[in-house]
Amino acid sequence: MGTVILGTGSCLPVKRVSNHDLEGILDTSDEWIQSRTGIKAPRISGKGEQTYNLATEAARGALDMAGMTADQLDIIVVATISSHMLMPSCACFVQKELGATKAFAYDINAACSGFLYALDLGDKYIRADPTKKILIIGAEALSARMNWADRNTCILFGDGAGAAILGHQQGESGYINSNFFSDGNLWHLLYMHTATSNNAELCVEDNPGVHVVMEGREIFKYAVKAMEDAVRGLLIKEKITIDSVNLVIPHQANIRILNNLIERLEIPKEKVFINVAEYGNTSAASIPIALDEAKREGRISTGDTILFCTFGGGLTWGATLIKW
Ligand code: COA
Repeated sequence: MGTVILGTGSCLPVKRVSNHDLEGILDTSDEWIQSRTGIKAPRISGKGEQTYNLATEAARGALDMAGMTADQLDIIVVATISSHMLMPSCACFVQKELGATKAFAYDINAACSGFLYALDLGDKYIRADPTKKILIIGAEALSARMNWADRNTCILFGDGAGAAILGHQQGESGYINSNFFSDGNLWHLLYMHTATSNNAELCVEDNPGVHVVMEGREIFKYAVKAMEDAVRGLLIKEKITIDSVNLVIPHQANIRILNNLIERLEIPKEKVFINVAEYGNTSAASIPIALDEAKREGRISTGDTILFCTFGGGLTWGATLIKW
């Protein structure tokens, strides 16, 4: 063991956009959205709430809980698919905003799975050098990347950020293991182009523009099975049963996916942290926001075994176990 979470934080935009608000711009209804997704009123960024602003505020909360200052950070990794610029990275903006002068910073793109991939990466840095302090963040302002005329997608997503500080501690607590997968063959089920290319030779045919495109039904099928298999594989690898897991924090995609997963894995519902109604699917931010809320609500105690599972564009998916 060894890599522990020293602090968590999260930040949500101020503005809520309810399903009733969407009824005003789309052929949809609160009843349809709630019954299909469990989502009620995600947060949507306004002025001064770019991805890096949300990420920075989440990081401040995590630093505060860890009792640390930004100049103690060695590395900043932001998982995002919705930074306001392609370059520099969101992580470099966070580094600047925090004044984390010692830290080097970069982004990773694994869509909704990004935060767990970053956690795994952070564990590897700390195993190599236990003195390192690493800030990992999942942050999204996907509202800027939605086609607000596409009722299949724009009703699902919300904006927000969550962060965690990783460090080393002797003892039983710490990161245990992950079970990750990707399948690029299925990229077309959930994707987002960049703007059209300035090099005519590289223009992609049928580029629909910079917004999320999704085949909802197919994604649903894959998501449930993939997360189930990843969790089962990880539990077998670590020789533990679901009964010895104290809390499950899944990617908050939608309630029907979560209910299917809970049923297949036979997890008691009270062990699963769910906040999808309030925030919708915040992609890479969903797990760290949920983790921070669970921690601040007193749902996590020292010694608890916590199971995370995720699924997203790529396709990417997996599961992670930690002992708090
Ligand atoms: N409001 C009202 N009707 C809608 C609608 C909306 N927001 N979105 C789609 N519909 C309509 C469709 O047009 C279709 O109408 P039709 O039968 O006249 O063609 C009907 O509802 C059924 O559409 P379908 O796509 O089959 O619905 P569904 O039951 O599969 O639910 C999702 C759609 C997107 C909620 C569901 O597929 C889903 O949850 N997928 C997973 C998405 C996800 O979580 N992605 C992120 C993973 S990280």
